[in-house]
Amino acid sequence: MNHPNLQVVDHPLILHKLSYLRARTTPTKEFKELVDEIAMLMVFEATRDLVTEEVEIQTPLEKTTARRIRGKKLVLVPILRAGLGMVEGVLSLIPGARVGHVGLYRDEESLEPVEYYFKIPPQPKGRDFLVLDPMLATGGSASAAVAGLKRRGATSIRFLCLVAAPEGVDRMYRDHPDVPVLTAALDRELNDHGYIMPGLGDAGDRLFGTR
Ligand code: PRP
Ligand code: URA
Repeated sequence: MNHPNLQVVDHPLILHKLSYLRARTTPTKEFKELVDEIAMLMVFEATRDLVTEEVEIQTPLEKTTARRIRGKKLVLVPILRAGLGMVEGVLSLIPGARVGHVGLYRDEESLEPVEYYFKIPPQPKGRDFLVLDPMLATGGSASAAVAGLKRRGATSIRFLCLVAAPEGVDRMYRDHPDVPVLTAALDRELNDHGYIMPGLGDAGDRLFGTR
């Protein structure tokens, strides 16, 4: 199936870093650094269509016009826990971004997401939201996070992950065809436990050393 909602950001630097991220021997500290670095490299593509406006500025030599991003500040929305690992990387390029949080975990049997926390800035309409989660597996968590944002009034949403399964991309297209999905890699499939193959294992556990 083709994925009209999907953009694979496969820059050589990203591919290189992803190879270390996937490797089982990569220790927690390095894993966290790689997640941040890849997220940062992906920000260029994830923000490519932000709208700019002309402003007048004074250089040391004369007045001129330049362009700045228009509108309210972008909102990053990491899906807890693993999405937290991408926040610093994105903020290093967009330091003025606001950060909301969506708490979801996958029920290990049903694989369905369970919401336990939701906090975003007021007046979501007219803001650009960038939802962050390293893994898009069944798509249940991403779809629920986006639905939660829409219920609260958000209209401009993008989803940024590092590794996606075709099943998750399809689910996002079915549930939210208006939401672009950007990933560093589109993997082969999900296994019977909902893990992405070949994937990188459990992103939250590898980020926070909980396994
Ligand atoms: C992982 C991952 C995503 C979700 C993806 O989180 O970070 O949020 O699974 O799976 P899905 O596409 O099938 O919903 P997990 O539920 O393991 O929680 P954690 O981040 O707290 O480890
Ligand atoms: N969540 C993860 O952390 N890894 C997977 O492979 C699937 C879901």
